[in-house]
Amino acid sequence: MSYPYQIKNLEAYHEAYKNSIENPEKFWGEIAEHFFWRKKWDKVLEWNFKEPSIKWFQGGKLNITENCLDRHLNTMGDTPAIIWEPNNPEEQHRTITYKQLHHKVCQFAQVLINNGVKKGDRVCIYMGMIPELAIAVLACARIGAIHSVIFGGFSAQSIADRLEDAQATFIITCDGAFRGAKDIPLKAVIDDALIGNKTIHRVIVCTRTRTAVSMIEGRDVWWEDEIKKVDAQGIHFVEAAEMDAEDPLFILYTSGSTGKPKGVVHSTAGYMIYTHYTFVNVFQYQLHDIFFCTADVGWITGHSYIVYGPLSAGGTSLMFEGIPTFPDAGRFWSIIDKFKVNVLYTAPTAIRSLMGFGLGPIQGHDLSSLKILGTVGEPINEEAWHWYDEHIGHKKCPIVDTWWQTETGGIMISNMAGITPGKPGWATYPMPGVAPILVDDKGNEVTEMEEGLMRGNLCITQPWPATLRTTYGDHERCRTNYFVTYDNLYFTGDGALKNSEGQFRITGRVDDVLNVSGHRIGTAEVENAINMHSGVVESAVVGYPHDIKGQGIYAFVIYTGSHGQDTHGTSDLVRKDILQTVTRIIGAIAKPDKIQFVAGLPKTRSGKIMRRILRKIAEGEIKSIGDTSTLLDPSVVDDIVKGAI
Ligand code: WTA
Repeated sequence: MSYPYQIKNLEAYHEAYKNSIENPEKFWGEIAEHFFWRKKWDKVLEWNFKEPSIKWFQGGKLNITENCLDRHLNTMGDTPAIIWEPNNPEEQHRTITYKQLHHKVCQFAQVLINNGVKKGDRVCIYMGMIPELAIAVLACARIGAIHSVIFGGFSAQSIADRLEDAQATFIITCDGAFRGAKDIPLKAVIDDALIGNKTIHRVIVCTRTRTAVSMIEGRDVWWEDEIKKVDAQGIHFVEAAEMDAEDPLFILYTSGSTGKPKGVVHSTAGYMIYTHYTFVNVFQYQLHDIFFCTADVGWITGHSYIVYGPLSAGGTSLMFEGIPTFPDAGRFWSIIDKFKVNVLYTAPTAIRSLMGFGLGPIQGHDLSSLKILGTVGEPINEEAWHWYDEHIGHKKCPIVDTWWQTETGGIMISNMAGITPGKPGWATYPMPGVAPILVDDKGNEVTEMEEGLMRGNLCITQPWPATLRTTYGDHERCRTNYFVTYDNLYFTGDGALKNSEGQFRITGRVDDVLNVSGHRIGTAEVENAINMHSGVVESAVVGYPHDIKGQGIYAFVIYTGSHGQDTHGTSDLVRKDILQTVTRIIGAIAKPDKIQFVAGLPKTRSGKIMRRILRKIAEGEIKSIGDTSTLLDPSVVDDIVKGAI
């Protein structure tokens, strides 16, 4: 495996960038030649952002697993594809070579076939971070089933909503998952999610924690038993399904500013080529480098940079089951030392939380194998950037600050390690193929600089291969969410700055989406969950700056009974009841950090909640609340300010 399209210096970046924007068809067509196709494409790109309709490599036939597995077997069969480090450091790690992974994926693909899974079926995957998760994902792709991975922290209700939306017919799960000192009962959560469900035929359960589970006759089967059946059939190879370039590869649910999470749909060929290209270029991946992405496969980062990007490149992907602080805050550093990790890709929130433990946990761990560091998921503050640079990279590792989204499939704006310059807090330059612009609220391009910077809403003017294609089952929702705000532009929902060198700095969401510890959560979603609590009349949720999480969740709640007192007990207990409700409806990740009981919310005469005012109160910026005269009842603001936490 070699990467002839790997950019090696700054001039090459500029040249690639220019070519990619001037002639995207030629640019991506040449890169696509390096993959394995059953049949070559007829047309590289056809698109409009009106519908939207975005088609890359139409007429092409392929299977992504042949590109991630089969094509490496002859030359790299014995190279580790996945190295897996368990939650408990005392437990043996596992190394799975390309040959072994290929075998396991074929075996499990046969399990899926034996259980009746067909091309196009939606398969929900709810598992912990064990190699079988990657195997399940790839086995779906092998037979053309559409996987929809749900992060292990989501509640039964969230799963039920997603199963319904995707009309999923199969589930792959585990008895439980280990995360730090906890043991999460995944199968029990699935059982709750399935109460009343009518679409699921089969649940395949992989053994991990040996937690007791209920196995329902006719519906639930054990992963291990099913593998034995495949062995008894003597099947070692499963032919990959021939997929159209534009066939959906997966659905991944993500939060937006309104209502329930949307099922972002990614296609096969475009997604594969784009995640591969960005993996190889941003991280300057060299064969046999050990690449450690600390994300969970339940999020897009895990899909693109634990599974598909690294494997399509014949890379070695390190997968870690646990959390950075278990058994102690030196866990990442001990893993880096143990496996001689070359590239570490993590989230600012993890860096900030580890910074809080001081330098002690780093001592005694040799980090000299590291060549490149990366961050993703939220803006990185300069203090965390410098700590990462100094204490982890020892000032010799470029740090790539990668900005992208579930909807973009792969990295969109980032420096390329050691090739294009980095800058603390700045994502810097767009990837080849990515054409970002800043627009004002009316959609006019911002061209004026103020104090050397342009400021605006970040949009993209033309498609890149991993653009989302639709939101599952509701194309109109995709159009209105991303392509209607500004004519003929993809709107990211983020605000950004641009300097005279053409570098971008992402300032954060400009819509009602929060970013809590790098997790996307819609304020409307949290409000809906809080409002489910029987005593709640109304609520409003905003974000506020949080030292470790980036953003915290602040909820203003109108509760029956005076200020959170009712028969159930004190306001403290009511708070706990509300947290419990949110955990049930969404999951613990969406629990508000602060709940303030209020008598009223600041509303305009037309009944709209003025979140701007609540945000200021949550941020403690009481002096800059601004004009409240347009409110129906300006006095509520004084009351809220008095009770602010
Ligand atoms: C934010 C994660 C600043 C941004 C891959 C975006 C970032 C949202 C960065 C997407 C970054 C992601 N700097 N902000 N490097 N990376 N974001 O869909 O607000 O979970 O819109 O995808 O995270 O979150 P998502």
